[in-house]
Amino acid sequence: MGTPCRDAGRFVFVLTASSGLRTLILPRTANNIYSVFRTFTPQKHYTMPQSYQDIFQNNRRWADEKTAENAEYFAEMAKGQTPEYLYIGCSDSRVAAEEMMGLKPGELFVHRNVANVVNGIDMNAASAIQYAVENLRVKHIIVCGHYGCGGVKAAMEPADLGLLNPWLRNIRDVYRLHHAELDAIADEQERYDRLVELNVQEQCVNVIKMACVQERYIVDEFPIVHGWVFDMKTGLLKDLEIDFEQILHDIQKIYDLTNSTWVMCRKQQQ
Ligand code: CO
Repeated sequence: MGTPCRDAGRFVFVLTASSGLRTLILPRTANNIYSVFRTFTPQKHYTMPQSYQDIFQNNRRWADEKTAENAEYFAEMAKGQTPEYLYIGCSDSRVAAEEMMGLKPGELFVHRNVANVVNGIDMNAASAIQYAVENLRVKHIIVCGHYGCGGVKAAMEPADLGLLNPWLRNIRDVYRLHHAELDAIADEQERYDRLVELNVQEQCVNVIKMACVQERYIVDEFPIVHGWVFDMKTGLLKDLEIDFEQILHDIQKIYDLTNSTWVMCRKQQQ
C-alpha cells in the first residue's frame, strides 16, 4: 500500500487486503481526498501478492468440488438458510468457527468482533442477535471466547489504546465485577485465562438481558445461551456450562423485558 497523505488532520484505521490494520491520515480538502485514493489505487502502486490471487483460484476449485459432489449444492444454498446456532466469537483469525465445530455452510449464523463482546448499545451485535432469534429462530446462542485473546490481554494492560479504549472498557468492567476472584489469582497467565472465561460468562449475561431472547424463550423455550472457550493449544472447545435458566431467573429481577402484548397473549394461550 502507498504512503498516507501528509497534510492531514485525523487518523483513521483502514483494513488493507495485504496485512490487516493500517493507520491513514484523513485529508483536509476534497482534492486531497482524491490524492489519497489515487495513492491507494492498486494498479498504480500496489501489486497483488501471489497469496491474494491464490484466493480466487482456491475459490474456483472449492466451487468446482462442491458442484462435482452435488450439482444442486449452490442452487440449494441460494434458497435460504435455517441455522440452529448463532455463534458470537472473537475476530481472531485462528478461531475457525464452522471448521472447529464440524458444521457446514448454512448451519451457523456468525457474529464476530474483538474479544466477543456483546454491548447493549452495539447495533451490530444487537441486529445479528435479533435477526437470529426472531427470523431464523435459532435454538442455541453460543458466545465463544478463546485463551490467548489479544483483546482480553489488552484490557489487562494500563495503557491508552485510542479507539479501542471504549471497546475494551467492556472487558475492564468484567474485571471490575470479578476483581476479588481475579486479584486472588497470583499467576498472571492463570488470571488472564480466567478473565477470558469470565468475559464469556458476562457476555452471555448481556445476551440474556435482551428482550428478544427473553421473549422468545418464554414462548418457545429456546434459544438457550451457552458459553464456550476455544483452546488453540489443543484445538478443543471447553463448555463453561453456564446455568442459563438460573441466570435468566436472576437477571429478570432487574432486566425483565417481557411485557410485550404478543408475549402476554402467547403466555395466556399456553
Ligand atoms: Co480474541
